[in-house]
Amino acid sequence: MKAIAYQKFGNIDVLQNVEEPRPSVQANQVLVKVKAVSINPMDWKIRKGEMKLMSGLKFPKHTGVDFAGFVEEAGSAVTGFKKGDEVFGVVKNNMKEGALAEYVAVPSANVWKKPAHISFAQAASIPIVGAAAVTALHKMGTIHPQSKILVNGATGGFGMFLLQLLKQQKADVTAVTSTKAIDYASTWGASVVVDYTKEDMLSKNVVYDIVVDLSGKMGYDNARRIMKPRALFLNPTPRPIEIPTSLFKNLFSRKKHVAVLSHPSKENMEVLLNAINNGLQIEVSQVFPFSQFNQAYQYAEQGGFIGKVAIEID
Ligand SMILES: NC(=O)c1ccc[n+]([C@@H]2O[C@H](COP(=O)([O-])OP(=O)(O)OC[C@H]3O[C@@H](n4cnc5c(N)ncnc54)[C@H](OP(=O)(O)O)[C@@H]3O)[C@@H](O)[C@H]2O)c1
Repeated sequence: MKAIAYQKFGNIDVLQNVEEPRPSVQANQVLVKVKAVSINPMDWKIRKGEMKLMSGLKFPKHTGVDFAGFVEEAGSAVTGFKKGDEVFGVVKNNMKEGALAEYVAVPSANVWKKPAHISFAQAASIPIVGAAAVTALHKMGTIHPQSKILVNGATGGFGMFLLQLLKQQKADVTAVTSTKAIDYASTWGASVVVDYTKEDMLSKNVVYDIVVDLSGKMGYDNARRIMKPRALFLNPTPRPIEIPTSLFKNLFSRKKHVAVLSHPSKENMEVLLNAINNGLQIEVSQVFPFSQFNQAYQYAEQGGFIGKVAIEID
């Protein structure tokens, strides 16, 4: 089968289109014929060697962790899936495995039935950022109508899910986006939208109960200036050192720094599927054919898109 792999850390040019044997299926696994894979920032952070502690140094490495497609074969111990089912899922170890290939074998616990009304590209856009958004929501605790929430970097994949989940909670959300994404942020539930190319959030003299930084550009030390005394800072991109140090700093501050790590569990996926069946929109700004995987990564890595970017496999 065809697959995308790389033999060393680096830029897009290390990605190679290779021939590999089709994976065999263990008893608890399903083999999925992949129709679409979505791109996540973690794909290139791993490829560039920015996450070596977790990804390890073993090559070849594969890329693309979220996928959608058809069940080709179900392992002997698998119940609930059969050949031909339309599914979406995530590889078991997203630091060491990749789904950008014709087939992927994963435990059946990592696969869910695709809602009939969404495309394969939309379904492949759900697991990592969707589950991260549900985790962020849980970390926020009880949201009161008067709670002021700031989502910085609100119209990429993660923000798209988070804004719409917050809308269902009737939260008061300020979204920070670039100019072309303003309408999306409003539609997805923000009551105030700030264009980061025109205004600096940090100099607006408004304070929040919760600040979520999805851009990775604000940082906790800056965010503290716009946090109320007991506010939370949710950080989906903590540096490894920030996890222990923030636990320590949180002991001495009423403002808290909280890491958010995606957990595509059955429970989180149920929340997402319920929201999707109730109208949550999944915007895929561009879908590339498999032969243009390089262009797909170039497009995604330069930013400026809304929602997600996906690659389709014929
Ligand atoms: N911890 C976890 O488990 C986990 C899971 C998923 C994602 N993440 C991380 O969470 C982050 C967001 O993920 P994502 O998939 O949503 O990424 P994304 O699609 O690239 O979205 C990032 C957003 O930040 C915006 N942005 C860029 N510069 C900005 C600035 N100066 N001020 C405000 N906003 C700015 C971008 O807007 P424009 O493109 O319009 O400029 C874009 O909408 C990434 O760093 C990702 O690695 C972590």
